[in-house]
Amino acid sequence: MKVLITGGAGFIGGNFVHYMLNKYPQYEIFNLDYLTYAGDLTKHKEIEKNNNYHFIKADISDHEVIIDLFNKNHFDYVIHFAAESHVDRSIADPGIFIQTNVRGTQILLDAAKNASITKFVHISTDEVYGELDFDPDTFFTEETHLQPNSPYSASKASSDLLVRAYHETYNLPINITRCSNNYGPYHFPEKLIPLTISRALNDEKVPVYGTGENVRDWLHVYDHCAAIDLVMHQGVIGDVYNVGGHNERTNLDIVKTIIKELGKSEELIQFVQDRLGHDKRYAIDSTKLKKLGWRPEYNFETGISQTIKWYLDNEKWWKEIISGEYQTYFEKQYKIHF
Ligand code: NAD
Ligand code: TYD
Repeated sequence: MKVLITGGAGFIGGNFVHYMLNKYPQYEIFNLDYLTYAGDLTKHKEIEKNNNYHFIKADISDHEVIIDLFNKNHFDYVIHFAAESHVDRSIADPGIFIQTNVRGTQILLDAAKNASITKFVHISTDEVYGELDFDPDTFFTEETHLQPNSPYSASKASSDLLVRAYHETYNLPINITRCSNNYGPYHFPEKLIPLTISRALNDEKVPVYGTGENVRDWLHVYDHCAAIDLVMHQGVIGDVYNVGGHNERTNLDIVKTIIKELGKSEELIQFVQDRLGHDKRYAIDSTKLKKLGWRPEYNFETGISQTIKWYLDNEKWWKEIISGEYQTYFEKQYKIHF
């Protein structure tokens, strides 16, 4: 079985590469990644010599390279993670989000449609549904209308529609998964949880947008990997599956929990100017996926403790990241706030 994983040097894709090699040692895994600021291969050091693991450095929006790759390899599955993934970056500079997330996805779909693959699994996000209000009884289902609010979520919604269209028009066998906010090992420190852990460990101020009341539904990345595995092997062709952990927390709760676990002072919390168009609340109804047999193993308390421990044990990984180009990003992004 040949599995092409795009974005396998990033956070979720990287965890999924490990998950697949562990669970299906007989599968041949091809990790295609352009190694943008968010991709790094140090996380794959111990699998580099595995004969069933191959790395390909390529840009998904390079039509010629992608078509050639599919002509030379018969992939059975494509699991598509590669994307620009950070909302704040999309607000500052939307263009690359359209190039990678929309055009890049369309090029992969084109290549896949002529390659008689078994399935194309598109990894999307709950953010395509827009926002919910704070009524705790409302959830996103697979039937919720797409109403993306940020350039990032609009680019992901556009790619979802293309994936759907290639299924309807060309009969391409697809699934789309829409998950809530992931957390866990190798989460890039520009996102809320690893940003809070890394800054609090360095006794630096932790920026909380607005009043900190916005709500996210946190999903451990290992539970997400298991969900994708299930959809890949058992999902009904053409269907969308929501993936969420039912771990709703306000951002302020998240930051306070981490600061407490690290034994730091809440004085590190700095309320800053709100994100433009900041979605109030995300919450996922995963009933459909549960009917397929998925159950999350992590609750937030055990998941966050384990994640904090991972960041303490792997300081070298995140310290290297935050010492480079990241500093320039951080100063530019937060200079209006601090
Ligand atoms: P990430 O930013 O950590 O990783 C993205 C990876 O894609 C990087 O390795 C990067 O080098 C690669 N990439 C970017 N542009 C590329 C290009 N043009 N060609 C090839 N590779 C390219 O992202 P993530 O958090 O792991 O997210 C993976 C997927 O899951 C994305 O599609 C994202 O929209 C979706 N998602 C993420 C979350 C989350 O909480 N992180 C939640 C919902 C959905
Ligand atoms: P983030 O991790 O960027 O994920 P997403 O925007 O995809 O949900 O942000 C999670 C929440 O945390 C979101 O409501 C914005 C908020 N946030 C802060 O309050 N401060 C920060 O510095 C960042 C990066 C995010």
